[in-house]
Amino acid sequence: MILFQLTTYARSAPLRWGFVGCGRITNDFAAVIDALPDTDHTVFAFASRNVSRADDYACRFGAAKSYGSYEALAKDPDVDVVYIGTINPTHYEISKLMLANNKHVLCEKPLTLIGAQAAEIFKIAESKQLFFQEAILTRFFPATIRMQDFAKTAVGDIRLVTAYLGQNSATSLRHVRKQLGGGSVKDRSGYVLQHALAVLGNDLPDKISAVGQLNNETVDSTAAIELQWKDGRMASLGFSLLTTVMPAEANIYGSSATIKMPDTFARPTAVQLINSANTTIENYPLPTVLDHRTFLANAAGMIYEAQEVRRCILAGLLESPLLTHKDSLTILAIQDEVLKQIGVSYDSLYANGVFVGSSLEPELQAPVLKPVSCPNFYH
Ligand SMILES: NC(=O)c1ccc[n+]([C@@H]2O[C@H](COP(=O)([O-])OP(=O)(O)OC[C@H]3O[C@@H](n4cnc5c(N)ncnc54)[C@H](OP(=O)(O)O)[C@@H]3O)[C@@H](O)[C@H]2O)c1
Repeated sequence: MILFQLTTYARSAPLRWGFVGCGRITNDFAAVIDALPDTDHTVFAFASRNVSRADDYACRFGAAKSYGSYEALAKDPDVDVVYIGTINPTHYEISKLMLANNKHVLCEKPLTLIGAQAAEIFKIAESKQLFFQEAILTRFFPATIRMQDFAKTAVGDIRLVTAYLGQNSATSLRHVRKQLGGGSVKDRSGYVLQHALAVLGNDLPDKISAVGQLNNETVDSTAAIELQWKDGRMASLGFSLLTTVMPAEANIYGSSATIKMPDTFARPTAVQLINSANTTIENYPLPTVLDHRTFLANAAGMIYEAQEVRRCILAGLLESPLLTHKDSLTILAIQDEVLKQIGVSYDSLYANGVFVGSSLEPELQAPVLKPVSCPNFYH
């Protein structure tokens, strides 16, 4: 296993987190870091393209520093690890910026819009001996880990894996606009694909078949994927940006039992093992109640991901064994193929590797969740 040298980060010190992009998921992940012991994790700095936004986040979470550019945060020598919570098309550039400045990184999913971009990022991280992790949070939940145990020991031969995920995001611009990296494949399929690969293995399927419905911006609103390996492994997956009631359920059907991950399997708190004699239900309640308001249901479950990042960095790991670089690359390669089959391309969003679709910013700002104790930074 590859280890890096612990040069800038002492084992006894708290991990100082820098947050890039002050939107919804950054709010939620900062709330999670704030809930963890101060001896282990610190909400240290925020960066936004709009400094008053970074000031607001820093005030609400008690961070020491706020920056009006992502570059300024990258150059702060006191930031140990960077959380990238910006819109999809920007992950590629910001990841490279942070690695160039010797930061460990946890980057939101989808890591990149194009698989080759992720391969480039991992290569840089590995060559610089930096920890780099895609933040597919599901993999770090205890219920997911238990599901993988059951899949190995309690269901016999796995015949079919299914997963469905939908929510109505029709009015959310970052979900539906191509210019912002929208589309159901890039927003939702990471969850269903990671579920299938968690129990079927992370080698590329021999057959990938996809259908999708595109919106008037030529990105997909709903899609379905069938995966098949020559040895008989199969998965059937579906997801949508336009469904109002669609339980996020996932199942693993084996020769002797079924595993059911109830709604929502993406941030699971229970796992069921069903055989012809009985049903066993194991519950994994959320680890804590957060002190801050959050946007995401079960946001507190991101604690597992944060703890895993610290564990890996302390151990000198470059990736978490719970979601490896290979796992991410296989998910992204399947997404590339699915997008090709349904006729979606994000190539036009980049010129010489730089994102060129940044004109929609004012419409996108997340609502402010300001406590009365913070000054009004918004003008
Ligand atoms: N793991 C999960 O469960 C989960 C859940 C939700 C979202 N996500 C991922 O997290 C990322 C952000 O999602 P979100 O819901 O937090 O979105 P959001 O509320 O719209 O925030 C996105 C942030 O991106 C930054 N940004 C950078 N360049 C931008 C541009 N050209 N136009 C607009 N914004 C730009 C902005 O930060 P500043 O203006 O402060 O610079 C903005 O606040 C996405 O990649 C999404 O897939 C993950």
